[in-house]
Amino acid sequence: MFKSIFRRLLFTYLLITIFVITSMTLIVASIYKTTVFEQKRDNLESVAQRANRLTQDLYAQNISEKELDSAINAMGYSTESVIYILKIDKQLFEKQEELLLSGLNEEFIVQDLMLVLEGQRVYREKLYSEGFGTYVLLIGYPLIINRTIEGAILLLCPISNINQNIAHMNLIIWSVAVAMILVSVPFIYLNSMRISNPIKEMEAAARKMATGELVDHTLIASNDEIGRLSISFNDMKDQLEKTEIMRRELVADVSHELRTPLTSINGFVQGIIDGIIEPEDHREYMLLVQEETKRLIRLTSDLLDLAKLQSGGIELHKEHLHLFTLVEGVLTEFGNQATNKKLQMTNQVSSQLYVTADPSALKQVLINIISNAIKYSSEEGQISIDSEHDINNVRLVVSDNGIGISEQDLPYIFEKFYRSDRVRNTDDKSTGLGLSIAKNLVELNGGTIWTESIEGKGTSIIFTLPV
Ligand SMILES: Nc1ncnc2c1ncn2[C@@H]1O[C@H](COP(=O)(O)OP(=O)(O)OP(=O)(O)O)[C@@H](O)[C@H]1O
Ligand SMILES: [Mg+2]
Repeated sequence: MFKSIFRRLLFTYLLITIFVITSMTLIVASIYKTTVFEQKRDNLESVAQRANRLTQDLYAQNISEKELDSAINAMGYSTESVIYILKIDKQLFEKQEELLLSGLNEEFIVQDLMLVLEGQRVYREKLYSEGFGTYVLLIGYPLIINRTIEGAILLLCPISNINQNIAHMNLIIWSVAVAMILVSVPFIYLNSMRISNPIKEMEAAARKMATGELVDHTLIASNDEIGRLSISFNDMKDQLEKTEIMRRELVADVSHELRTPLTSINGFVQGIIDGIIEPEDHREYMLLVQEETKRLIRLTSDLLDLAKLQSGGIELHKEHLHLFTLVEGVLTEFGNQATNKKLQMTNQVSSQLYVTADPSALKQVLINIISNAIKYSSEEGQISIDSEHDINNVRLVVSDNGIGISEQDLPYIFEKFYRSDRVRNTDDKSTGLGLSIAKNLVELNGGTIWTESIEGKGTSIIFTLPV
């Protein structure tokens, strides 16, 4: 029945509102009714007491019978009731003659009169009087003169008037209640929409996203859970889109990078099979095939490293490291290459410096940067590793006086597979992943990396590490 949150909210709110307003109205109506009857009763009781006092005055001859009559009439008129002052003798009462005369011979009156004559006060609501032809309210007080019960004072008040008042009031109360419910309906409707719409919107967006469609941000300004859900949803959407773009780029890049070596391998092998390549040249071509295969192996292992780094699948084991020693170790590894190119490499890192980093990650960063410096330097070039530091960070600067990087290339060199055209044409062994891996590793260790370079003059790669 309630397949949408909107309907469920709407129905629940409506039900609660109607229930609350109805109960409150019922309570108010019943309190009003009780109050009206209590007031009437108080009123009639004080009239009864006053009638008794006036009768006592008549007996003491302080007032005349006429004065008593008109006072009683006035009180009866103002309270809309009929007042009987009965001086009843037991025998007379038993014969009920006097009652017959006054039209008071109705059964309930006779019974209550008996009680009153015994000294009790009587109050009855909702008695049907045939004499009045309606329901009446009855007050019975013993008539006391000189401390003895001489009869009874009876007040009969038709309740049709009271009921009319109550009915009138009820009409007002219930009209207000209905008006309140009607007024609350648009609010309930809007509020239900306000809660359910964003959810609906996000649900639709999620469904679209699942089919690979691009969707807009869901715009929810509220500061509650739904607002926050929408922010998280948008973040997730952005992240998914970014990942999707990265995935597509990667697939395109990788297939492009794989195609070149695979095409040359295929070409060489085909040449051998077809006999185009002479048997005495086979070894030379097989060496080329091996060269390409090695490049492919390096490419795949670099790609794996990068994928691991970017998916956060690498666990760092940070240590307190003596920077000078670490740099010295890496430089030693490059000793042969440097000698071959007659390069001069100097370690100018301060021997006081320590950093907190993963040693193998830091080593990899240095290897990638220094290998570039070697690769992109001409013979007899100079490479130096310097250090600077402040309270929080250590800065390592790897400088060379090699070919440098052009201004157009500079913003892209940390991207995957990016290599300057100049390099691309002269060197087939590189993959363009070295700096991308270095950047990821530095950032994973809490640092940043950037380049300063002038084409033809040299390059400095600078990165920071927390102390
Ligand atoms: N020290 C440098 N001097 C001049 N150019 C550099 C230097 N370091 C990097 N570059 C430029 O930045 C590009 C990206 O460097 P990166 O290390 O990522 O790739 P690569 O060295 O070409 O390949 P790989 O390191 O994967 O073998 C290089 O191709 C080169 O154009
Ligand atoms: Mg490199």
